[in-house]
Amino acid sequence: MESKPLKLVFGADHGGVQLKTCLVEEAKALGLDVIDVGVNEPSSVDYPDVAKRALQVWREQGGSARVVLCCGSGVGMAIVANRTPGARAVNCSDVYTATMSRKHNDANVLTLGGRVVGNGLAIEIFRAWVSTEFEKGRHEGRVAKIDA
Ligand code: RB5
Repeated sequence: MESKPLKLVFGADHGGVQLKTCLVEEAKALGLDVIDVGVNEPSSVDYPDVAKRALQVWREQGGSARVVLCCGSGVGMAIVANRTPGARAVNCSDVYTATMSRKHNDANVLTLGGRVVGNGLAIEIFRAWVSTEFEKGRHEGRVAKIDA
């Protein structure tokens, strides 16, 4: 039986909109299921508004959906996401951190800085993050302790 494609909720502020457009294209090319909550133009918006909208949509999806958020640095989006119950956000600018955040932390939110990483590196980070599974085992108890 074929498994369903990973569902990703994308969001960006003006600092991350160009990078989000690039990653949405990449996700579609990989056959992933995309929900894009915007923004899609460069005018200034407040990143907490976008992050909260994306995380609300993610909550409504339930199950194994994940979130990808882009702002200028990736920092603001990660701070907002990590205040959301059940969300484990990682701000990545390297492939190793992206991979380990999945293997050991079961990170379900990836944030990236459109003013930090170029499209090529961001795509490598993104590919690693969407394709790496949580290792479970000893890491399950540790992740459970985050919310305990
Ligand atoms: C917007 O200028 C910038 O502050 C925002 O994109 C983000 O980097 C915040 O963390």
